[in-house]
Amino acid sequence: MHTLRNKWRANLLVGFLVCALPVASIALGAEGPEPPENLRCEYLSNPMGIDVVRPRFSWVLEHPARGESQTAYQVLVSTRSETLKQDQGDQWDSGKVASGDSTQVEYNGKPLASGQSYYWKVKYWDKEGNASPFSETARFDMGLLSRDEWKGQWIGGANQLRTEFQLPEAVVRARAYITGVGYYELRINGEKVGRSVLDPAWTTYDKRVLYSTYDVTRRLQRGANAVGVMLGQGWYSSRALLVQIDVELADGKSLSFVSSPKWKAKNGPITSDSVYNGESYDARLETPGWDRPGFDDALWAAAQAVEAPKGILSAQMMPSIQVVDTLTPVALSNPQPGVYVYDMGQNASGWVRLQVKGPRGAAVTMTFTELIYDNGMINRENIRNAKVRDVYILRGGGMEIYEPRFTYHGFRYVEVRGFPGTPSLDSVRLRVVHSAVPTTGSFVASKQILNQIQKLIHWSQLTNLFGIPTDCDQRDERQGWMGDAHVTAEEAMMNFDMAAFYTNFVRDIHDIQSPEGMVSDTVPHRYGSAPSDPAWGTAYPLICWYMWQQYGDRRILEENYDGLKKYVEYLRTRASENILSYSYYGDWVAVEKTPGGFVSAAYYYDDVRVLAGAAKALGKAADADAYSQLAGQIKESINRKFYDAATGNFANGTQTANAMALNMDLDGKGQRGHVAGNLTNDIVYRHDTHVTTGFIGIKHLMEALTKIGRADLAYDLATQTTYPSWGYMVSRGATTLWELWQEKTGPSMNSHDHVMFGSVGSWFYRALGGINLEQDSVGYAHIRIEPQIVRDLASVSASIETIRGTVSSSWTHAPGSITMNVSIPVNSDARIVMPREDYMTEVTVREGDRVVFDKGQYVAGDAGVSGATAEKNGDIIFTVGSGNYSFQLTGQ
Ligand code: BGC
Repeated sequence: MHTLRNKWRANLLVGFLVCALPVASIALGAEGPEPPENLRCEYLSNPMGIDVVRPRFSWVLEHPARGESQTAYQVLVSTRSETLKQDQGDQWDSGKVASGDSTQVEYNGKPLASGQSYYWKVKYWDKEGNASPFSETARFDMGLLSRDEWKGQWIGGANQLRTEFQLPEAVVRARAYITGVGYYELRINGEKVGRSVLDPAWTTYDKRVLYSTYDVTRRLQRGANAVGVMLGQGWYSSRALLVQIDVELADGKSLSFVSSPKWKAKNGPITSDSVYNGESYDARLETPGWDRPGFDDALWAAAQAVEAPKGILSAQMMPSIQVVDTLTPVALSNPQPGVYVYDMGQNASGWVRLQVKGPRGAAVTMTFTELIYDNGMINRENIRNAKVRDVYILRGGGMEIYEPRFTYHGFRYVEVRGFPGTPSLDSVRLRVVHSAVPTTGSFVASKQILNQIQKLIHWSQLTNLFGIPTDCDQRDERQGWMGDAHVTAEEAMMNFDMAAFYTNFVRDIHDIQSPEGMVSDTVPHRYGSAPSDPAWGTAYPLICWYMWQQYGDRRILEENYDGLKKYVEYLRTRASENILSYSYYGDWVAVEKTPGGFVSAAYYYDDVRVLAGAAKALGKAADADAYSQLAGQIKESINRKFYDAATGNFANGTQTANAMALNMDLDGKGQRGHVAGNLTNDIVYRHDTHVTTGFIGIKHLMEALTKIGRADLAYDLATQTTYPSWGYMVSRGATTLWELWQEKTGPSMNSHDHVMFGSVGSWFYRALGGINLEQDSVGYAHIRIEPQIVRDLASVSASIETIRGTVSSSWTHAPGSITMNVSIPVNSDARIVMPREDYMTEVTVREGDRVVFDKGQYVAGDAGVSGATAEKNGDIIFTVGSGNYSFQLTGQ
């Protein structure tokens, strides 16, 4: 997101104007609403090739005054940027709409046409009715909206395909619509088009295949043009291409060039490719110039028409997989003659760029692992059956540079064999590859271990985004395991802009849902079972729900309401006396096991609650009622079956069982103290302040402790450094999170890059940073800033670039004083809960240089800060509108 950068730019500009034109610009800059920024269409900035016929817009508001909000907006959409410049929307002029909505605003103009570009801008009116200037122009381009518009044929027959065509005139506009399964690389006139790699994203190809749209206007030229496409197997296990290039010429003519058996085909230098096993590339088989016009392909075979994947074609509307960074190795060793091992210093997903010079036919083999043995050799035991090997065969001559196209690895170490001569640190670079989602969150604490864990979460999350959220990136798995996906979804939504990504993933889930309502353990479904373990399948309702909460995405609830209902109704057929007990994994990878039947029963309850919530949000009152009632019955049944009043425990009294009960409010009246006491005793006395949960339980544990007023204990767990803990991983040199709490290096299930324990990331923002949604509010319209100021934690600085703009909360704590700096975006408001220390009887709070609370009373202010009745434990609560606030509490 560019809000911050834009703000900087705006400030610089204002600063400049202030110097140049002091009087006029201060008046303008200081009071009036500024143009909206960060314009998004379907969550994307200037998307190319969307196929949503009523796309949704959002913008971020800027205003120099506090307590500001939008009272009306006007959106203009035009087919021509020149018309838009004259403030005309030939496609849609919303007029002045009296509305506070600055997100999820649906397009409501003339029907949008396939392949058309649209330009749009927006202005808003603030609380006083002052209009902002119009925003800068944004754009969106439509893809091909119906199957009939695709005129090409699916072709294959080899992994390199080419064609040439002539253009009699200069090109005014050109679009390439393309998909190639498993993976493709599109090249025009000698150059790769676009930055995407490993495209398209993996889907259930029988249901849906994603295509991308590229603006190729400047790639094409008058005269001869060449198009070359390389194909990889990816997850499709075969190769098929569909492409259409639509060109408008200077003389007004339109031409289409499409894939057909008239194309030429020949296997290229990639002699094998596989996601798990790696890529082999024989540079001697290269045919230089094959992707340029004038190449002699007389000896190439004709391309073959191949069977189309069964699924429908959909626009890929999320950040693609890209090479996002390039890292230099930190060490190189030579543990055996001819064997070189690089340490990249960071476990990551991607591949290596190899730079090598040597004789023709020399073969360099690279193998990628997360671990090494004490003797310095790579340890590939936890990679299981994936070969993770890239082979490059030299063409000979000068310096050669190679990177693979159709595979990726999860690794920190690279073993190189067969290198001609002696490799150096410069012979390889780590190319970091994953879905290129923008970073939106920042969390920094005075306690170092928390920052180290945050870094692990960041890396593990990103390296497990490959068009779908994956469990791991290295072994023969890399699947869309739904359990892993939902426990980390909130963390991911805070750290990254995940809206478009999860919109796609939820559709993937919807695609695999069976007519009976079942979903599968993995999506797309390749591993695990259908029906899913209930603690995995719950990803369907929960991710929809988080999309609603974090982004205010009503449409995802609307589009999936029937699916969610079917899912719940399916679970209902499997439940007996309101208890859903079937389970495969339960609280997976736990130190102390919790009965799977309890975990399933609890998620069934949660799913029904979410469905009731969705019904309520959509105004389906009868369903909301019916499912709330069902939830009540399930809760009663769970209490009857799993709660032991004598001991105060749910199920077998593990941390997971009691924490799930507390976090889901499964406990009835009067039980809370007993259950909570058991939970904290178990942590502190039975386990010396350690967790015993698996990856399902841990999310509930941190939230439950915070709910029962024991954020201090959750903090102790978060900062623990002995086994089992996150800190233990850090202390053992982890650079990404492990699959198991324990450190294992042998064969079997012990990936060193699983993000699921990273669910604690959302607790960092919510509990320690204090950034929360107000009860029942969505999309950060109403915010609650309530940091848990605990133990020796002296400061935290957290911020999230939400869909409405940046929310930030930074605090420091020293004996007798707490400062809190808070930013609330325009069009949002917040309740700020300032804790005071227990011993403090006399407290004064200043905001800026004004006293706002003194001698037990709120002091009326005039700058957007108002007091509220203290609700609990003497906390001091302020309500504020948008703006930046600086509170300082002193007390004794
Ligand atoms: C995956 C997990 C997944 C689990 C299901 C494992 O192999 O790596 O993260 O959730 O299977 O039990």
